[in-house]
Amino acid sequence: MDHFALKGGEMHAEEVALSAIAARVGTPFYCYSEATLRRHARVVLDSLASVGDPLVAFAVKANPNVAVLRILAQEGMGADVVSEGEMVRALSAGVPANRIVFSGVGKTDAEMKAALEAAILQLNVESESELRRLSRVASDMGVTAHVAIRVNPDVDAGTLAKISTGKAENKFGVPLDRVEALYAEAASLPGIRPVGIAAHIGSQLFDLAPLEAAYTKLGALAQRLRQAGYPVERVDLGGGLGIPYDPKLPLPPSPADYAAMVGRVTAGWGLQLMFEPGRLIAGNAGVLVAKVITLKSGAARRFAVLDAAMNDLIRPTLYGVYHDIRAVRPEAGEMVATIVGPVCETGDMFAEDRSITPLAEGDLVALMTAGAYGATMAGTYNSRPLVPEVLVSGDRFAVIRKRQTLEELVGLDRVPDWLG
Ligand code: LLP
Repeated sequence: MDHFALKGGEMHAEEVALSAIAARVGTPFYCYSEATLRRHARVVLDSLASVGDPLVAFAVKANPNVAVLRILAQEGMGADVVSEGEMVRALSAGVPANRIVFSGVGKTDAEMKAALEAAILQLNVESESELRRLSRVASDMGVTAHVAIRVNPDVDAGTLAKISTGKAENKFGVPLDRVEALYAEAASLPGIRPVGIAAHIGSQLFDLAPLEAAYTKLGALAQRLRQAGYPVERVDLGGGLGIPYDPKLPLPPSPADYAAMVGRVTAGWGLQLMFEPGRLIAGNAGVLVAKVITLKSGAARRFAVLDAAMNDLIRPTLYGVYHDIRAVRPEAGEMVATIVGPVCETGDMFAEDRSITPLAEGDLVALMTAGAYGATMAGTYNSRPLVPEVLVSGDRFAVIRKRQTLEELVGLDRVPDWLG
């Protein structure tokens, strides 16, 4: 459930008309609903409370805005980070260090050092060589790194290939049959204390079966590790639960369905569980609002050209996925249009031959379900400045990331002396 709805014929975020925000900040802009973020956080935390006292760490990559992270920290969520930048964001949002886990397949020495200096809860290690490097970094600093080994359980998540992470051929994690040896090595290395295992098999999952298969393998592994005499205090079950993008499709499993499955599979494990949801929390809490610049008819189809483009929201271009697109002030009737951005690429397309209420030039549209993997994946291709992010709370709103100016965009470039 989200808080983007028509009121008096016009789409609002909570109590604020999207057109009022557009009048103030211009278009395009991302708009997030605080009530939706809080609601999603509570639903997920309440559902997972049934499996003991888990640490639910928001996957910062889904939406790293510091204001968003502050809201989630206030609700009691930790943070799953994959770079020093994400860690700095989480810390500055007020996420306690002991609720931060550092994942990622290629941590640099500098990132390891920063994580150890900040004394975060744990680093999820993804290879033999990374573990040995972390041991050297931690030993040099005279500290102990608390480590979980990320397992590649070789499970097909049944989602898009580009966002599957738990198959043998993917770059992520340590193959299941090498984890026990690595755990043993971790227990003997200076500067390392193994505390658990982790897995994350993919994103936007609509089926609990692959998750259950992966968790079952983790449970058996944790038991073997314990029988071998190693401590296993925590198991990190990752994120990945899907959310509805296309209102015409059946709904994904709910957080309660997911928690029931987790409860069944992990009964008797006797350790702390961790989760890393991203999309589930932020996805439906945000929209991208754009203006129709031009309507044009090609030889084969009609195009609606927006002032937002693939550089602002890349998911349709990158994955070919569906985002619902709605007129902010819908008129009666229907038109079919291919909805594109102004970037000079044919792939700069949000929707192909989409049936939508009639649009006119100057109208506002909302690209729905853009709160996760939206602004965070934006770039400046075609020298288009990064668009602002706005947070709505009841009847008020604030810009939580300002629009990049052309001076800021161009001002990073330097012309070397020899060019005159
Ligand atoms: N934990 C780890 C280690 C991850 O790599 C990810 C996502 C998550 C948690 C959170 O997954 P979620 O709950 O959000 O599904 N850009 C793509 C999604 C990439 C996800 C990458 N990893 C998209 O727009 O669909």
